[in-house]
Amino acid sequence: MSQLWRKKPISAFEEDMKKSELKRVLGKWSLTAIGIGAIIGGGIFVLTGTAAHYHAGPALALSFLVAGIACIFAALCYAEFSSILPVEGSAYAYAYGTVGELFAWIIGWGLILEYAMGAMTVAVSWSGYFNKFLKLFGIHLPGFLTNDPFSAGGFAINLPAFLIVWVVTYILVIGIKEAASANNIIVLLKVGAVLFVIFVGMFYIVPANWVPFIPEATIIPGEGGKPHEAYGVMGIFGGAAAIFFAYIGFDAVSTQAGEAIDPEKDMPFAIIASLLICTTLYIAVSLVLTGMISYKEIVGDALKAPVAAAFEKAGQPWAVFIITAAATVGLISVMLVMMLGQTRIFLGMAKDGLIPPFFKNIHPEYKTPYKSTILVGFVVSVVAAFTPISLLGDMTSFGTLFAFAMVCGAVWLLRIREPQLKRRFKVPALPLIAVLGISTNIFLIVNLNPLAQKLAMSWLVFGVLVYFIYGKTHSLLNKSVTQQQS
Ligand code: ALA
Repeated sequence: MSQLWRKKPISAFEEDMKKSELKRVLGKWSLTAIGIGAIIGGGIFVLTGTAAHYHAGPALALSFLVAGIACIFAALCYAEFSSILPVEGSAYAYAYGTVGELFAWIIGWGLILEYAMGAMTVAVSWSGYFNKFLKLFGIHLPGFLTNDPFSAGGFAINLPAFLIVWVVTYILVIGIKEAASANNIIVLLKVGAVLFVIFVGMFYIVPANWVPFIPEATIIPGEGGKPHEAYGVMGIFGGAAAIFFAYIGFDAVSTQAGEAIDPEKDMPFAIIASLLICTTLYIAVSLVLTGMISYKEIVGDALKAPVAAAFEKAGQPWAVFIITAAATVGLISVMLVMMLGQTRIFLGMAKDGLIPPFFKNIHPEYKTPYKSTILVGFVVSVVAAFTPISLLGDMTSFGTLFAFAMVCGAVWLLRIREPQLKRRFKVPALPLIAVLGISTNIFLIVNLNPLAQKLAMSWLVFGVLVYFIYGKTHSLLNKSVTQQQS
């Protein structure tokens, strides 16, 4: 039993860091760009419509503020951890150093939902934007090449989703510097597009659309037609859960410790900076959006592309081109960072012996975990090509919120257990921030789609079985204990 609770000593993490074969090339702005690269994606361009129409109305900006605050609690905790344990495994490694092996394993397994499943979700969304982009030029790809077989009801493959994953895989295999440069360019383009929406869109705001800012709570037909309570103060919280996906990504910075030049100092900066920058942009976009178009008018196709619909309403259809192009390019960096994060978490787990050594094979020239990257690329591309994604988004949010809550708890635990550790960043008002972080993240989990909750829980249970079949016996900690005993 004690084996399940054994912890990896902080000194062992320090040893791992010294032995790291990865290239240290990422400075604080590249790390911040990695955070922004993962955060700004399809979420802001798509989920805003659903959240405004079905949950918050013009108070959508407050939903973004609430979700941003929930994330800030987690971001502060991630920042403290990354300043103590700057290792690849992110929340998995933090749990291994504080709570114990089984727990760390469950988090590592849960992070597959965030990173690999996140990449699948984004690959399918990318395919949708890419098709829309081609249509703007009069190019129509046949349905059987742009859908999964379940949605198409016969033979079909989502070819753009499949191919884009391999483009991303290629960039990730050839080098972290190449991946970071590609990410930097994409981030500039997409932040430019978001600023465009804000600064051009603000001239088309009709202030009457904001009145009343928090509409009275009322029962309306929900997304599936089932009546549900919308608006009012609770609507703001419902909206926050609905748009949470848009915030996922800042924690991916914490998977880059092995490649950061000065991780203890720059990672806390990048985690918090990327989140604050995106929260500000998101609040501004949501104010502009609900000012340009009444939340009541966001129906039908406008629900799928609310920002574009707002510009169409303003008589500026050309803006649709800019937004579609920005989303098409912007989503590539989300995939890039998600898949990068997944391979680095696997690297951390493989170094600890919990998954096969295959995952820690570093390419002699490119210095990247190439075998693991290719395997992740293969799985993500195949699932993205053949699976419908309706539930994947909420499962991604589940995995992320679960890790956030755990990290908030673990940072508190480590402060109690090892107060003497050097912390280059400290969470202010710690028990309070950790408690707020745990409760807000669990609150958002409870508000997710119930089917996604069940599927995600089943995934975690399956993970526990895998731990007992493989991880427990192969753990390096297990071996060192056995060696010490013999
Ligand atoms: N935050 C990312 C997005 O919105 C996952 O696409």
